[in-house]
Amino acid sequence: MRRFSLVLLFLTWTYGGADEPSLQAVLSQKGLQKVSHWAMDWLQNELGSVKIPDVSGRVDILVGSVEYELHDMSIVRCDLPEPAVAFSEGTGVSLKVNGLSMAINGSWNTRFGIIHDGGWFELAVFNADLSTVLQVGSDERRLSVSTLICSAGVEDVQLNFHGGASFIINELVSWFRGYVMTEIRVKICPAFIKGVEELDSHLATMSDALQVDPFVYMNVSLTDEPILKNTGLELFVKGEFYSVRSPSEPPFPPNHFELSWRESYMLTVGVSEFLVNSAAFAYLSAGALQINITEDMIPKSSPLHLNTSQFGFLIPQLPKLYPNMLMEIVLYAREPPLVSFNNTLIDVQLFTTAKFYVVQNKHGLIPLFRLDLDASLSAKAFIKQQLLMGSVEMTNFTIRLDSTQIGDFPISPINNAAKLILSKFLLPKINNELKDGVPIPSVRGFSLQNSVLTVENGFLMIAADVGGPDDMQ
Ligand SMILES: *[C@@H]1O[C@H](CO)[C@@H](O)[C@H](O)[C@H]1NC(C)=O
Ligand SMILES: *[C@@H]1O[C@H](CO)[C@@H](O)[C@H](O)[C@H]1NC(C)=O
Ligand SMILES: *[C@@H]1O[C@H](CO)[C@@H](O)[C@H](O)[C@H]1NC(C)=O
Ligand SMILES: *[C@@H]1O[C@H](CO)[C@@H](O)[C@H](O)[C@H]1NC(C)=O
Ligand SMILES: *[C@@H]1O[C@H](CO)[C@@H](O)[C@H](O)[C@H]1NC(C)=O
Ligand SMILES: *[C@@H]1O[C@H](CO)[C@@H](O)[C@H](O)[C@H]1NC(C)=O
Repeated sequence: MRRFSLVLLFLTWTYGGADEPSLQAVLSQKGLQKVSHWAMDWLQNELGSVKIPDVSGRVDILVGSVEYELHDMSIVRCDLPEPAVAFSEGTGVSLKVNGLSMAINGSWNTRFGIIHDGGWFELAVFNADLSTVLQVGSDERRLSVSTLICSAGVEDVQLNFHGGASFIINELVSWFRGYVMTEIRVKICPAFIKGVEELDSHLATMSDALQVDPFVYMNVSLTDEPILKNTGLELFVKGEFYSVRSPSEPPFPPNHFELSWRESYMLTVGVSEFLVNSAAFAYLSAGALQINITEDMIPKSSPLHLNTSQFGFLIPQLPKLYPNMLMEIVLYAREPPLVSFNNTLIDVQLFTTAKFYVVQNKHGLIPLFRLDLDASLSAKAFIKQQLLMGSVEMTNFTIRLDSTQIGDFPISPINNAAKLILSKFLLPKINNELKDGVPIPSVRGFSLQNSVLTVENGFLMIAADVGGPDDMQ
C-alpha cells in the first residue's frame, strides 16, 4: 500500500496558471515499466480483499424464467500477467493485459416461480484481455487520469454449482456458457473505469502542500499541463517552499530552466536555484536557521574554546570583566542564504550574525557583543557509486563588529582566528567527508540507483533509476 501511495505521490504533483516550475520531473518508458510493476505487485496483494459486487438477473428457459443471484463472491486465485504499458504521444498511457485468469467462489440463489434454491459455486475465468488507453492531463493544477478507450475479452469460463438442485443448473450452464461469458466480459471495462475514476478523485482531493518537516512545506501544484511523448512524461511542479507558520513569497523571482530528457534513466529531475533559495527563505521565516553553539559542541582538538580566558588574546578586556567563564554563541542567518548553480559550480553566500554570551551559572546568558559574518563558498558536487561527493572552498569571508556591550576591540585578530578555524579546521573536515562520499538516503525503502548529478546553469539535474524495497541491489 505504501508503495502505491508513493506512486500516487509522484502522480499528485499538481498545476498552476503562470507560475514558473521549479521542479521538473521526467518519467521515461523504463520508469513507467517500473511503476507498472509496482502497481501490479500492489494489485496482486489487494486482490484478496477486493469486494466483488453481487450479480443478479433472469434467464429465460423454455418453461419460464429463472431469477438468479450470485453473491458473497471472492477472488480465490488470480494470475496477473505483467501488463504491456507504453506512453502514447499527446494522450497518456496505453495498457494491455493479456491472459489474465482467475478463480472466484461465491454463493448462488435461484427462484423459479415458487421454487427457491441455493448453494455455492466456483467460477473460473480463462485468458481475459484488457486493452485501454488512459488519458493523463491536469485539472485544477493537479494531475488527472481518465479512461479514453477500453475493450475487454474473455476466452473461456467454467462454472460449477454445488448444493441444492445444482445438478440441474450445471446442465443448464453448458447451454448458457456464451451468455455467462458475455456477462463477465461487459463488466470488465466498467469496473476498470470505476477504478480509474476512484484514482482520479483521490488525486483531486490530495493536498498540494507537501509537508516536508515541522517548519516548511513544498507547494506541489502543477504549473503546466504534463507533456506526453512516446518516450516519456514530464511534469512541471511549482516546487516552492513556504514556512508553515508564516507562509510568504520570497523577495526574489523564480528562474526559468529547461530540463533535457535522459531517457536511459527511469527518472530525470531538475531542481532550480529558486527552489533551493525559496527553501532557505522559508526555513529562515520559520526561525529554523539558528544554532546555539556551546562549549560541549566544540571538539577537543579545536584551537579555540568558548572560554573567556582563552578569548583573552583576541579581546583583552574580556577575561578581566568575566574571568574564567564559559561562553555561548547564538549563530543565525541574518538574511536568507543565496545559492546559485553556475555550470559545474554551486556558489553559496551566507549572511550570518553571531551573538556572543558569557554563561553565568544558573543566571542565564549575559550578552557580550555581536558580529556579522559573511561568507562566500564555492562547491562542486557529483554522485559516484551512490555516494554524494564533492568539495567546498571559501571564496570570501568578512567579519564586522555590529554592536558591543564590553567596549570596542580590534576586529582583525578575531577575523584571522575565524579564517584559520574555517580554512584549517572546518572546511578540511567537510572536504574529507565529501571525499569519502556521503550515502544518498533512501526514502521509505526507495533508493536511487545508477544516479548522476550535474550542476547546470540555474539548476541541478539528477538522473537515476529507482529501486524499490524488493529490488536486488
Ligand atoms: C471461497 O474460498 C474461500 C477461500 O478458499 C473460503 O474461505 C470461502 O469459504 C469460500 N466461499 C465459498 C462460498 O465457498
Ligand atoms: C500552491 O500554488 C498555487 C498556484 O500558485 C496556489 O493556487 C495554491 O493555493 C498554492 N497552495 C498552497 C498550499 O500554498
Ligand atoms: C538558543 O539560545 C537563545 C538565547 O538564549 C534561546 O532563546 C533559544 O531558545 C535557544 N535555541 C535553542 C534551539 O536552544
Ligand atoms: C577555561 O580554560 C582554562 C585554560 O584553558 C581552564 O583552566 C578552565 O578550566 C576553563 N574554564 C572553564 C569554565 O571551563
Ligand atoms: C558563473 O561563472 C562564471 C565563470 O566562472 C562567472 O563569470 C560568473 O560570474 C558566475 N555567475 C555567478 C552568478 O556566479
Ligand atoms: C567579499 O565580500 C565583501 C562584502 O561581504 C565585498 O565587499 C568584497 O568585495 C568581497 N570580496 C571579494 C574578493 O569578492
